[in-house]
Amino acid sequence: SQVQDMAQEKVLAAKNMAFAFDIDGVLAHGNKAIPQAKEALKMLNGDNELGIKIPYILLTNGSGKTEEERCQQLTDVLDSPISVDQFIQSHTPMRALSEYYETVLLVGGEGFKCRDVAVEYGFKNVYTYHDILAWNEEISPWRAHRSEKEIAQASPIDFSKVKFDAILVFSDSRDYSTDFQLIIDLLMSEDGYFGTKSKNPGAGSIPIYFSQGDMLMPTAYKGPPRMTQGAFRISIETMYKALTGTDLERVVYGKPELATYKYADEVLKSWMEEIHNENKIPANVYMVGDNPASDIIGGNMYGWNTCLVRTGIFQGGPGENDPKSPANFGVFDHVLDAVKAVVRKEL
Ligand code: G3P
Ligand code: MG
Repeated sequence: SQVQDMAQEKVLAAKNMAFAFDIDGVLAHGNKAIPQAKEALKMLNGDNELGIKIPYILLTNGSGKTEEERCQQLTDVLDSPISVDQFIQSHTPMRALSEYYETVLLVGGEGFKCRDVAVEYGFKNVYTYHDILAWNEEISPWRAHRSEKEIAQASPIDFSKVKFDAILVFSDSRDYSTDFQLIIDLLMSEDGYFGTKSKNPGAGSIPIYFSQGDMLMPTAYKGPPRMTQGAFRISIETMYKALTGTDLERVVYGKPELATYKYADEVLKSWMEEIHNENKIPANVYMVGDNPASDIIGGNMYGWNTCLVRTGIFQGGPGENDPKSPANFGVFDHVLDAVKAVVRKEL
């Protein structure tokens, strides 16, 4: 009958659309869910007129924990089961680098948490500034205070004999002064050894990778957004240029970099397989984000539909879109309004 045909058509449409959600400023603020996010995810999990799952992935520039740990935390915060198979954080695609680099300086994150992430990704020898300071704390004259626990957990190794293959910035530095010094030391070293200096420091000794490029992020602070990894990277680039006269060659992951969206497509494809047993990328993907300079510009460049919400970085008033990187589907007060508008359009 006609009614059945229409229902069938809607089911096909539901399987041909998908969402990519930003987390901070869209689904949650830190460990607190944005209230409307819970209802939005319930709708997509099957609580809709068709009783069908609408696929979604989470695409965040966040970092600092294993995928497993973060998804468990999100499951609790959002009241919705979040699988590692639908989750991409800034350093997730960096797992592939473990095939190429054995010994790395790991920068950023709380205590040794990012070391655990990198070890789980398959990197063999992962060292942080805590380890280097345990060897020789004079390497960093302006080092920050370290806790007893951090001192006790460091690896006592003679780093004059260790050859580093790469520098990986996974998360925000907790001691800019020491990380700046150690990164510049290795970038200007002879073959990746601390305590050496290349005869041609601008020629580049070892590669450096950054997990994401955001300048700003929303936090619990009531004033303007706070600086994050992008600001740290720009500082390194400026120091390197001033010291060597050469531009730093570096690789950046995360939104809005192309590599991350390509990776997201692969995740979408396998997630479709998991929930609908179909091996294809849905044609109509909607990115819902709060940061025009990251979520929206990246989605627009990749050919996705984009929705900007007012619960995070973007502070525009009613009727306003971002002037530099406008969302092509629209601006919404919160994620539930965005999801409802998309579902109305597609189904
Ligand atoms: O940029 C830092 C991080 O808080 C961003 O997370 O989820 O908004 O991409 P997200
Ligand atoms: Mg965000």
